[in-house]
Amino acid sequence: MSQISSSSKKGVFSATVLANRQIGQRFHRLRLEFSADGARAFAQFKPGQFTQVDLSSAALPPEQDTPADLLDASRRELLLRRPFSFADVTAEGDKTFAELLYCVVGPATLRMTTLSSGDRVSIIGPLGNGFRILGDKKTALLVVGGMGAPPLQHLAKTLTSEHAEIEVVAFAGAKAASELPFEGRLDEISQQLGFSLPEFTKYGINSIVATDDGSAGYRGLVTDRLQQWLDEKSGLTPDSVIIYSCGPEAMLAKVAEIARDKGIDCQVSMERRMACGIGLCQSCAVECRVDDSSQTTYKLCCEDGPVFDGREVVFV
Ligand SMILES: Cc1cc2nc3c(=O)[nH]c(=O)nc-3n(C[C@H](O)[C@H](O)[C@H](O)COP(=O)(O)OP(=O)(O)OC[C@H]3O[C@@H](n4cnc5c(N)ncnc54)[C@H](O)[C@@H]3O)c2cc1C
Ligand code: FES
Repeated sequence: MSQISSSSKKGVFSATVLANRQIGQRFHRLRLEFSADGARAFAQFKPGQFTQVDLSSAALPPEQDTPADLLDASRRELLLRRPFSFADVTAEGDKTFAELLYCVVGPATLRMTTLSSGDRVSIIGPLGNGFRILGDKKTALLVVGGMGAPPLQHLAKTLTSEHAEIEVVAFAGAKAASELPFEGRLDEISQQLGFSLPEFTKYGINSIVATDDGSAGYRGLVTDRLQQWLDEKSGLTPDSVIIYSCGPEAMLAKVAEIARDKGIDCQVSMERRMACGIGLCQSCAVECRVDDSSQTTYKLCCEDGPVFDGREVVFV
C-alpha cells in the first residue's frame, strides 16, 4: 500500500477478485476483497464516495465476444484509471468486501469483464465526499437513473441500518426494464407499494419504477413520477424530506429543480471524466453557484464532490 497523502486514509491498495458475474444483458457485478491496510481504509468507505480502478493489465475478451461497436475502442491502450463507486461495502473481521456494479461502455469496462476469481486489481480510494445524512430528516427519497444505482444501493443500506427512524423510498428509472441494473425479477407488489427490487427490498425498501417505454412500472420519466408522488404527499413537510440522486445529468438537473421548487433538500452525485481522481489534473470541473449570488465558480468533482448540494450545481 502507498499512502497518497499523510493526512488522509486514502491510498493505493490491491484487491482480490472473488467473483465477476453478468447480470442480465448489460450489467456485471464484481465482488472484491481487501485485506490488511486496504481492509481498514475501505471499511470507512461512505456511500457516494468512489475509487479509481486500474484495468490496464486486465486482458481483453476474445474478439468474437466483443460487441461490434466496441471493437475499435477495445484496441486502445488503457493509460488512465477509471472511476467507480461501490454498491455495497461490508467489513468482516480483518477483511473488507466490496461490490462493484458496472456496465460495459468502453475499453476499461470491457477489460473488467475478463477479471476472474483470484485476480488482483489496483484500486485507489476511498475518494471524494459521499452523501451527507442529515439527522433532522424523516423521509429520504433515493432517485436512481440507470447506472446511478450503485451509490444509492449503498446509501439504502446505511440509512436503514444506522438511521432506522428515516423512512426510505427508492425511485428507479431507465429507458426500459432491461436497462435497470438490478438482479432478479422486477415484481410489482401493488400500484401503491410499487416494485420489489431485491437490491432495495433486502433493506425493507420497496421501489417505484418508471421506464420510458412502459415495459415496467410508470410509463415516462422517473422525474415525472417523483413529481407526481410528491404532489400526492401534500402532507409531507418539505423540511423533513431529503432527496438523494445519481444518474444522467439531465435527470439530476430535473430532480434538483423539483426539490428546489418544493423547498426540499437535495444531494446529487455528479459524473465527470476523471483523469487523476485526486485533485491534480483539473479535468473534472463542475460549475457551481457562489451562495445565492449570480456568480459561479468551478469545483472539482473528484475532490469537492462527487456529491454536491443540488442547489449549487449549474447543470449543463
Ligand atoms: C464518481 C463516479 C462513479 C462511477 N461509478 C460507476 C459505477 O459504479 N459503475 C459503472 O458502470 N460506471 C461508473 N462510473 C462511470 C465509469 O467511470 C465509466 O463507465 C468508465 O470510466 C468507462 O470507461 P471505459 O474505458 O469502459 O469507457 P470510455 O471509453 O472511457 O467511456 C465510454 C463512454 O462513456 C462515457 N463516459 C465514461 N466515463 C464518463 C464519466 N465519468 N462521465 C460522463 N461520461 C462518461 C463517455 O461518453 C464515453 O464516450 C462512475 C463515474 C464516476 C465519475
Ligand atoms: S480528476 Fe483530476 S482533478 Fe479531478
